Amino acid sequence: TERTLILVKPDGVARGLIGKIIDRIETKGYVIEALDLRTASQETLAAHYAEHEGKPFYQPLVDLMSSGPLVAIVASGEGVIKGWRSLAGTTDPTTAAPGTIRGDFGRDWGTAVQQNLVHGSDSPESAEREIAIWFPEA
Ligand code: GTP
Ligand code: MG
Repeated sequence: TERTLILVKPDGVARGLIGKIIDRIETKGYVIEALDLRTASQETLAAHYAEHEGKPFYQPLVDLMSSGPLVAIVASGEGVIKGWRSLAGTTDPTTAAPGTIRGDFGRDWGTAVQQNLVHGSDSPESAEREIAIWFPEA
């Protein structure tokens, strides 16, 4: 069965939304296979966000992602990659649909990078690549 890498980003942890976000994963019926609260290293973030290196929001993104603890999760279930991104909502929380995590709990805080609470892998290849970065033992 399909797996994906989910992050409750540091802004989500700081806002006290870990429980609500995990509730969405479980209520939808996905299975949590691994879960860890940790502060991400620079090496992990450089590998995870390699595709965004050189973009204007790259350094603000890495700074945000290393600003405090985050929750890294491997979740599984049929269609979980697309399904989780659908629950998360579109990247920009200002216009993310109501009912989604970003639409319900996110907003623009005027920062250089969008603070949008969660991450989800965007393809099976990304999922396996990212799971290997965050949970090398999995
Ligand atoms: P993730 O699930 O976090 O990967 O979100 P995503 O797939 O919707 O976005 P993407 O992978 O394209 O970008 C990673 C993160 O960079 C986003 O979640 C945002 O925090 C930030 N980001 C992406 N695009 C922009 C942008 O155009 N402007 C700003 N300010 N931040 C961006
Ligand atoms: Mg992405």
